[in-house]
Amino acid sequence: MADLNDYLPSWSEVLKENAKQHSITQLFEQDPHRAQVFSSKTNELFLDYSKSHLSRKTKALLLDVAEEAGLSEAIKQLMSGAKVNTTEGRAAWHTLLRAPSDSTDENSTTEAQEIKAAKQQMQRFVGAVTDGAWKGFNAQRITDVVNIGIGGSDLGPRMVARALCDYHQAEINVHFVANIDGAEIYHTLKKLDPARTLFIIASKSFTTQETLANGSTARQWLLENQCPESELHKHIIAISTNTKAACEFGIAAKNIFPMWDWVGGRYSLWSTIGLPIALAVGWDNFEALLAGAHEMDCHFSESKPEDNMPLMLALLTFWYNQCQNSRSQAILPYCHQLQLLPDFLQQLDMESVGKGVNLDGQKIGYSTGLIIWGTEESNGQHSFHQLFHQGTQVVPVDFIATLKPNHPLESQHQQLLTNCLSQGQALMQGKTLATAYDELIASGKSSSEADALAPHKVIDGNKPSNTIIMDRMTPKSLGSLIALYEHKVFCLSVLLNVNAFDQWGVELGKQLSKKIAQALDNNTIPAHWDSSTQQLAAMILKKP
Ligand code: F6P
Repeated sequence: MADLNDYLPSWSEVLKENAKQHSITQLFEQDPHRAQVFSSKTNELFLDYSKSHLSRKTKALLLDVAEEAGLSEAIKQLMSGAKVNTTEGRAAWHTLLRAPSDSTDENSTTEAQEIKAAKQQMQRFVGAVTDGAWKGFNAQRITDVVNIGIGGSDLGPRMVARALCDYHQAEINVHFVANIDGAEIYHTLKKLDPARTLFIIASKSFTTQETLANGSTARQWLLENQCPESELHKHIIAISTNTKAACEFGIAAKNIFPMWDWVGGRYSLWSTIGLPIALAVGWDNFEALLAGAHEMDCHFSESKPEDNMPLMLALLTFWYNQCQNSRSQAILPYCHQLQLLPDFLQQLDMESVGKGVNLDGQKIGYSTGLIIWGTEESNGQHSFHQLFHQGTQVVPVDFIATLKPNHPLESQHQQLLTNCLSQGQALMQGKTLATAYDELIASGKSSSEADALAPHKVIDGNKPSNTIIMDRMTPKSLGSLIALYEHKVFCLSVLLNVNAFDQWGVELGKQLSKKIAQALDNNTIPAHWDSSTQQLAAMILKKP
């Protein structure tokens, strides 16, 4: 079994330093400059990671660990389009998607030229649909676009479109359908006019069962609602690497937007997969999103390790995972527009570092991917914060907030920010038995009542949190925020010595699904199936 000490010689030093661990409040008492030293900033983002157990010594040791893991070289490889996805022999060049276009000059790569052409195709399409030049089967403009995709072909665009709701173009409503559960597409379509609805079938592989099923339902819905077959091309377009399969599905070749195998699904919203984003917020705002991500790319590749925001987030997560047995990470946006960010980061993180074998194919003997979860705040305070404050687990949290709202309710925004700060402070400082007792006495309880109740009101504190601040929710700040987490996950994969860009684990479920579907279609229950699957299949077959 592979061990961290096999490739990180300084790891034993980290463990030794760990033994001297101080509480977070002690670290602040010992270092009046702590908040400034344990913060990092770019034009769009400010990261305060001082409410952690990280001492200056441990930070230095973890930076040594990062260097021993080969992080500097790994970043160069990622950004240069090297085949970092070793099991599929591919690059993971999502950073090129948002780099300023340089295909005009002689040293532009083939990929850069293809990206430029695809972006021009996207821009033309967005313009035609937005200004009404693109007409449906009865010559009406398109008012509603439905993106049909799942995983990376849905979560990123859906999250960004939701987050940038203040930037939505009036002319177009964008909807998202992902689940094979017919309820999602059924309830989406019943609100729409077929004559003015256009579908995007977004699928890198164009083999994903859910997307093909929803695509077929959409096609049938159009045909059943007076759309002639000869006019379907006005209402269904595709985004895929698999042009052949898209054409066989019936998509006109001119309506297929290219995608590339060197773009991972969970890293693809910057590519043509981002078409629904551009339709929702307009081309200029889509470009601003890319620019924000590019700015983070520059920070990631050029800043000193100790100031490198994605690296610091990764080292903290890696350290809490390995040294504090933290097995989950909470993403808590104090920002209603970011309500889908935890969902997006679940795929980005868990599908990238949820691995059990290292780059050499060896079984791993240490903890790797965490459970990523969260919800918009302040809702979580009235749901799971109790566990944070008095539970027995240490769950590192990332708070994310904007200084200014995109709405006029300034007073409520101030209250939102107050909640964000108070939760971070409460997690860190807690409440002692003596304080709990005194408060109870002050509230009029007798000493015996206070003695009985005070232990139940103790809050241990000493719980870590990071706080990420944006000035305002804008396309550019959002682009930087997403790229921050993409690069954090990449750093984690290097520290864990795993491939961030494959996802072989999802194949088995797909294979078994095909076999079960075949058996149910044939009304049979194979004797070799386990008795649980047999009894459940029998219930499905017996349903009236
Ligand atoms: O099954 C997992 C996955 O392959 C994700 O990695 C991907 O984002 C999603 O399915 C959708 O894949 P596609 O874009 O090929 O339909």
